[in-house]
Amino acid sequence: MLKTPLLTGKQIYLKALMQTDVTDEYVQWLNDSSINQFLESRYQTQTAASCRHFVGELQSQNNNCFWGIYCNQSKQHIGNIKLGPVNKLYQRATIGLLIGNKSYWGKGIATEAINLVSDFAFQKLSLHKIDAGCYVSNQGSKKAFLKAGYQVEGLLKDHFFYQNKFEHCVLLGKICENSQKDTQ
Ligand SMILES: CC(C)(COP(=O)(O)OP(=O)(O)OC[C@H]1O[C@@H](n2cnc3c(N)ncnc32)[C@H](O)[C@@H]1OP(=O)(O)O)[C@@H](O)C(=O)NCCC(=O)NCCS
Repeated sequence: MLKTPLLTGKQIYLKALMQTDVTDEYVQWLNDSSINQFLESRYQTQTAASCRHFVGELQSQNNNCFWGIYCNQSKQHIGNIKLGPVNKLYQRATIGLLIGNKSYWGKGIATEAINLVSDFAFQKLSLHKIDAGCYVSNQGSKKAFLKAGYQVEGLLKDHFFYQNKFEHCVLLGKICENSQKDTQ
């Protein structure tokens, strides 16, 4: 069973997100077109019930870690970050995040959250690699991953549809160079 531990950084802390953490504000983030424009969840109007279902599903699976991102100073819930699914055989996982509170954009929060989760994945879960993907237009996301030490590994051409055009997906990855293959 994968635990989602408390992780603390300079500006933020990450705490396992529970169904009880689904507030109206959280639901609004997911229905705001300026926030959800690069999220696949945008195709459906989200409700408290759909969000609670999503959170409950993630917490019931044993191959994901799912955190709420909280501001150290204000204690406000400002976003979410997920590591998973974790592939134990190949010691890798996928990472994805959302900073839903727009007043926190551009302050290095995404970069810090990615760093906290990546360090946890490499040091505590002994993963060898973490991968991510983003729309080519999502410059903020791409930059945050690059600042957290991820590298561009490739491009999936015309992978999404965005603003009436097909759009490429940028594949990003970070490798823990000194990790060992887990033979257990
Ligand atoms: C994209 C997102 C994660 C960026 O979060 P953030 O906390 O603002 O990112 P950071 O502050 O760590 O920014 C990292 C870099 O990207 C830049 N950046 C952030 N948003 C940007 C944007 N919209 N356009 C261009 N650059 C941007 C920052 O200025 C910073 O660069 P700098 O240090 O050179 O100034 C956030 O806007 C978000 O969650 N958006 C909605 C959901 C989403 O798109 N999630 C990602 C799905 S892959």
